[in-house]
Amino acid sequence: MKIITTITEMQTLSDSLRMQGRKLGFVPTMGSLHEGHLSLMRRARKENDIVAASIFVNPTQFGPQEDLERYPRDAEGDRAKCDSVGVDYLFMPATAEMYPDKQAVFVTIGGVSEMLEGASRPGHFTGVATVVAKLFNIVQPHKAYFGQKDYQQCVVIKRMASGLNLPVEIVMMPTVREPDGLAMSSRNSYLSEEERLAAASIWRALGAVEHLFRFGMRDSEALKKAVRDVLLQVTGLAIDYLEVVDAVSLVPLASAGQAAVMLVAVRLGQARLIDNIILGG
Ligand code: PAJ
Repeated sequence: MKIITTITEMQTLSDSLRMQGRKLGFVPTMGSLHEGHLSLMRRARKENDIVAASIFVNPTQFGPQEDLERYPRDAEGDRAKCDSVGVDYLFMPATAEMYPDKQAVFVTIGGVSEMLEGASRPGHFTGVATVVAKLFNIVQPHKAYFGQKDYQQCVVIKRMASGLNLPVEIVMMPTVREPDGLAMSSRNSYLSEEERLAAASIWRALGAVEHLFRFGMRDSEALKKAVRDVLLQVTGLAIDYLEVVDAVSLVPLASAGQAAVMLVAVRLGQARLIDNIILGG
C-alpha cells in the first residue's frame, strides 16, 4: 500500500490509472478506523481494480463547539488496517494541503442538507459536501462507498453527485454494528463503560420499530412513541431529534406508507450518537 500526501501526486496517479482503463473505487474517511469503515473498503476491493481510501479529519464540517480537537486519531493503526483489507493507495493530506488558504469555495446542497443533522449542526453538510467534492476531484473515482450509518450524508452526497454531474457512482453500504447492536462509530470511544451499555438501547428501540412496522404499524407518531418509550428510560440520554422521513427527499412523513427511514440522534454523556433504520421501500 502506498501512502500519498500531496494532491498533485494523487491526481497524477488517478489520471494514469484512468488512462489505463482501470476501475477505481474510493472510500473517504476521517480515520480512527473500525469494522464499519473496513466493510466499505472490502466492498470496494471486490468491485474495482484499484482501491483508494482517504483519511482526513475535515475541519470545515465541525461546528465551533464540536469535537474537532479531541476527535480520535490513530494514523499508525489506520495504516495497518487499510493495508490488511487490500487498499492500494491511502491519501492522507495535511490540513494545509487541502485548505491552503481561507477556503472561499463551498459546495452547498439545498433541501436535503437543511433538516435533521443539518438543523442540529448548521454548516455541517456544506463542510462535508465541500471536502467530498474536493476529494472526488483529487482521487477521480468511478465508484465511492459510504455507510448507511450516516444516512443523510449518503443522500446529500448522492444529490451533490447528480446535481453537479460528477462521473462517480455512489454506493451505500449497510451499518456495521457491535454484538449488542450499537452502530460502530469513532465517537463511541467518548462513552463511559456505563454509557456504552446504555447506548445499546438505541438499536433496541429501532429494532422494536422494525417489528411494529412488519406487523403493519405505519403511523409515524405511534412508531416514534415506541422509540421514545424505550429511550426515555435511559438515564442521561437526551433525544436530539427523532423523525420518520421520506427515504429520498427526507421530508417528514405522517405515515411510513412509502419508502421511509426513521432517523434518531441522541446525546449520551460526552457523545452525540446517530442511527437509523430503513422501513419498507
Ligand atoms: P467517517 O465518520 O470516518 O466515516 C467514513 C465512512 O464510513 C462514511 O461513509 C460512514 O458512513 C461510514 N461508516 C461509519 N460508521 C459505519 C458503520 N458502523 N457501518 C458502516 N459504515 C460506517 O463520514 C465521514 O467520515 C466524513 O463525513 C467524510 C465522508 C469522510 C467527509 O469528511
